[in-house]
Amino acid sequence: MNSIVDNAILNFDKALRTLVRNASVAKRPSPALSHSESQLTSNERQHSIGLMRINHTGEVCAQGLYMGQALTAKLATVREQMDHAAEEEIDHLVWCEQRLNELGGRTSYLNPFFFSASFTIGAAAGLISDKLSLGFVAATEDQVCLHIEKHLAGLPDKDLRSKAVLEQMHKDEAEHKKLALDSGGYQFPQPIMSAMTTISKVMTTSTYRI
Ligand SMILES: [Fe+2]
Ligand SMILES: [Fe+2]
Repeated sequence: MNSIVDNAILNFDKALRTLVRNASVAKRPSPALSHSESQLTSNERQHSIGLMRINHTGEVCAQGLYMGQALTAKLATVREQMDHAAEEEIDHLVWCEQRLNELGGRTSYLNPFFFSASFTIGAAAGLISDKLSLGFVAATEDQVCLHIEKHLAGLPDKDLRSKAVLEQMHKDEAEHKKLALDSGGYQFPQPIMSAMTTISKVMTTSTYRI
């Protein structure tokens, strides 16, 4: 009984840290630090803000998904492996938020909604089976890699600080995908991947502005 209460409090605390500004702490320094700030025009800056806001919400979703999954995962090994990935996701969350702060932008107002939806999906998939929830992680990381690649091509050339953040995130997400598949996750068939691309478009188009 105690462990259920402990878990609930721990999850509530993690959820708050994800959703409250500047409440999380990264374990690794931001890759943005490897470049100095460049002079962006007002339009370039707004575009960088929009893209980094999308990436930040993507990381909010990752927190929700991993937390939901950790709550219902059946195997302890699956939970531990996913915990490691979730820790790296906190770095991503913080780096995106720091970059948004530097650019004078804000995080998305829609984050509580996307967090709740991802948490529910992660928990529901974990209830059905570990293989399914790991498959979800792999498919999600795949989607994240795709939109990071688009953003790397779409960011202003001069915005090296944002690009450095996204490059490290891309490396980590590809590792997370591999880890989820190696741990026994299903490789989702193409129709499901296409449906996920459609859902992720809802997120990316809405959070660019909102
Ligand atoms: Fe991430
Ligand atoms: Fe990831």
